[in-house]
Order: sequence, then structure tokens, then C-alpha cells
Amino acid sequence: MRILSGIQPSGQLHLGNYFAMMKRMIEFQEDHELFCFLVNYHALTTVTDSELLRKQTLDAACDFLALGIDPEKSIFWVQSDVPQVTELTWILSNSTPMGLLERAHSYKDKLAKGVSPNHGLFAYPVLMAADILLYGADRVPVGKDQKQHLEMTRDIAIRFNQTYGEVFVIPEPDIPDSVALVPGIDGQKMSKSYGNTIDLFCERGVLKKRVMSVVTDATPIEEPKNPDTCALFAIYSLFLDEKGRKDLADRYHTPGLKYSTIKKELIDVIWNYFEPYRTKRQEFAQDPERVRRILLQGADKAQAVAATYLQKARAAVGLNY
Ligand code: ADP
Ligand code: TRP
Repeated sequence: MRILSGIQPSGQLHLGNYFAMMKRMIEFQEDHELFCFLVNYHALTTVTDSELLRKQTLDAACDFLALGIDPEKSIFWVQSDVPQVTELTWILSNSTPMGLLERAHSYKDKLAKGVSPNHGLFAYPVLMAADILLYGADRVPVGKDQKQHLEMTRDIAIRFNQTYGEVFVIPEPDIPDSVALVPGIDGQKMSKSYGNTIDLFCERGVLKKRVMSVVTDATPIEEPKNPDTCALFAIYSLFLDEKGRKDLADRYHTPGLKYSTIKKELIDVIWNYFEPYRTKRQEFAQDPERVRRILLQGADKAQAVAATYLQKARAAVGLNY
């Protein structure tokens, strides 16, 4: 089975990215064919500082490599190093109804936030469909916020296959229930674009500040607290097994619990969890040439697969005169 997913280098990678996508991808590589890439064409829809995009792309690569993506076992590359994906995007645009794109939640959310829309933002889901279909992916591990994008990919692929013949694999989303949506420190969805993240490899002082500022309600210390509505509980739970979660919920239900006690514990939990990867990450960060080499080798392998699907798609629509 071919597993594929991508992540935007549009900021520092955070706990939501890790638990919904990165960790699962790293686990999948042990017994599946894994395709993992940094979607810098997509990041162009929000990042306009070229220096920053370059830096964030290398940073994200270092994060993945330190956390365990193994270029010997998996194909790991940067989206724009296989530029054929933009050709497939154009081909697929013609199997994409306007109404489908107009209904995209992520596009509508951005409009509601006052972002002035451009064509890149509107066409984002078509590029994402090309990302997935170009490599014949069977399964796509993502967080819940990407569910609609995956449905759009399936719609586009089905429509293309109906019009031109069976070219594309129809991919299945793989969305975990347990980490469907990780809240940020303000209780909203944790996102690079909302400034509410807890990053994987920040300085300890920054981590402390971020965790201490996770929003909690105003329940007095002497009253029981509700774990189910608490962002702090949701974040802490990411690091706990079922028993640990139950024990923490029991502490919430017992009068006398101070949120600050939980926050101080959580700082150590997060710090210690990522400790084994910190030195490795530094080694990659100090050798950007090595990281670039790994990414380019990954792009070569990705190209080989992309060429097959692109050739089939070109022939199916009649570009091979
Ligand atoms: P961001 O919103 O931070 O820019 P991306 O859109 O690049 O994140 O998402 C990368 C992956 O991480 C996707 O699979 C997405 O579903 C997942 N993801 C991002 N934020 C969260 C979150 N808060 N909770 C769960 N999954 C998330
Ligand atoms: N849109 C995805 C996100 O914001 C990123 C992405 C781009 C992606 N191309 C992809 C995810 C292909 C999975 C497969 O998270």
C-alpha cells in the first residue's frame, strides 16, 4: 500500500502537525511504501518572504529527519523539485467544477478572516489533488481539517477517470479519531497561521511561556473541573495512554486542582518527549548541504513515479499528438 502526505513549510512545525500527521507517517514507513514531502508551492499562498520560505523549508526537513523519516526507507522531498505537479494541476483544473472550489471550507475561512483571495488560494485544492494523484497514493494520513480537501481530490479523480478512462488511483483519507483536532494555546485549532502553536523544537523558555499561557476556564480551585472542554487537557492527552488520560481526568474531577500545576508538569512532559531528537536535529541543521542532498535524492525517486502517471494523464487527454 502506498501512503502519501505533505505539509506546508509555512511556519515552525507544531504539536498538531506532529500528532495528526508526522508521527503517523514515521510509523507507517516501517511496513509501507511511504511518500512524504514539503509542499512549498502551497506555502506560496501565504508566505511572501522568499528568505523565510527557504529557511522554513530546510527547518521542516530537519524536523522530519530528526524525528525519524528515513530516506533509505521512504521517499522524502520538496514539492517544487518535481515541478511536473504543476502540469498535472492544469490538466486536473479541467475536471474541477468551480462550485467544488467555491464550497471549500479552508478558502471560505480565509475569506472570512479578511485574506484578499488570489488564484493560488482558490486553486489550492487542485494542486493538492495533483500532489496525491501524481504518485498513485492509496492512503493519505492527514488531520481532520483536511477531510474536505481529500474528498475534493477523490471527486476530481473520479470525474477525470469517467471522462478519460481509468488513469488515477482513488485515494482514501486516513484521519485519526484520537487527535482529530489539536487545540492551540488560545483553544482554537492549533495552526501555523494563527500564532497559537506549541512548536516541536522551540527553546525551553519559549515552551514554558507558551504552555503557561494555554487558556483555561475560571473554575475556582476548590471546585471540580471539566476535562472535556479544556484545551490543556487535550494537549496533555496527546502524550498519555488511556490509563494516563483517565488518571488525569480523575485529577480534574477532584476539587483542589490548580491548572498551573498541570501546566508545569506538561512543560516537562513535552520537553522530555522531544529530548532524544534534539541533538539529531541540531546535526542536520548544521549541515544544510547534507539535507539538500537527501531532499534531491528523494525528488529523483519521486520523479520516476510522477513521470508514469503524468505520461498516462497526458495521453488520456490527448496531449501526445
Ligand atoms: P497549519 O494549519 O499549522 O498550517 P498544515 O495545514 O500545514 O498546518 O497541516 C499539516 C498537517 O497537520 C495536516 O495533515 C493537518 O491536518 C495537520 N494539522 C495541522 N494542524 C492541526 C491541528 N491543530 N490538529 C490536528 N491536525 C492538524
Ligand atoms: N493541504 C495540506 C495541509 O494544509 C497540505 C498538503 C498539500 C497535502 N498537498 C498534500 C496533504 C497532499 C496531503 C497530501 O495540511
